Amino acid sequence: MGKNIVLIGFMGTGKSSIGVRLAQKLKMEFVDMDREIELVIGISVAEIFKRYGELRFRSEELLMARKVSMRENIVIATGGGTVLIDENVSVLRENGMLICLDASPEDIFNRVNRKRGTRPLLNKNVSVEDIERLLQERERFYACADIRVNTSAKNMDAVLNEIIQALNS
Ligand code: S3P
Repeated sequence: MGKNIVLIGFMGTGKSSIGVRLAQKLKMEFVDMDREIELVIGISVAEIFKRYGELRFRSEELLMARKVSMRENIVIATGGGTVLIDENVSVLRENGMLICLDASPEDIFNRVNRKRGTRPLLNKNVSVEDIERLLQERERFYACADIRVNTSAKNMDAVLNEIIQALNS
C-alpha cells in the first residue's frame, strides 16, 4: 500500500505550492484539501466562513480528511487548522506520513499579506506579533508531525530535497 504524504503546518508555510512540486517530482497525485472542499461546496473557503461560520468549515474539513485518507500514494496539502482536530490527525496518519512545514513569523506575514483576504482567520491588519502568538498557541498540534522541515531562507529545490531525503531515511 503506497503511503500518502501529508503536508501540515501553519498558514503561509507553503503546503500547497510545495505539495504540487513534491507530487510532480515523486510522480504522485496532489490533492489540496481546501480546494477539494471548495469544489464540493461550490464557494471559496473565505465565503464558507463568512456565510456559514468556522464550525461548518471544520465539519467539511473532517469529512474531507476521512475521504482523502481512503486514497493511497497521494500528496495531500491540509489547511493550517486541520491538525487542531484529533480525528483529522488520526485518519490522515492511518495511511500517511505527516510532514510539518515551518516558517518564521516574518516569512508567514509576508506570504499571507500577498494573498490578503483569502484567509478568514487572519484579519487584514494582522501583525507579525499576532502570527507569532497564534504559532505558539498551535505549536503543540504541529508537534504531531513525523518530520519537520523549515522552509524559511530556503529555495523550493532545497525544501523538496530535504523532504525527499527525510522520507528516504
Ligand atoms: C486555516 C487555514 C487555511 C484554511 C482555513 C483555516 C487555519 O488554510 O484551511 O482558512 O485554521 O489555519 P491554509 O493553511 O492553506 O491557509
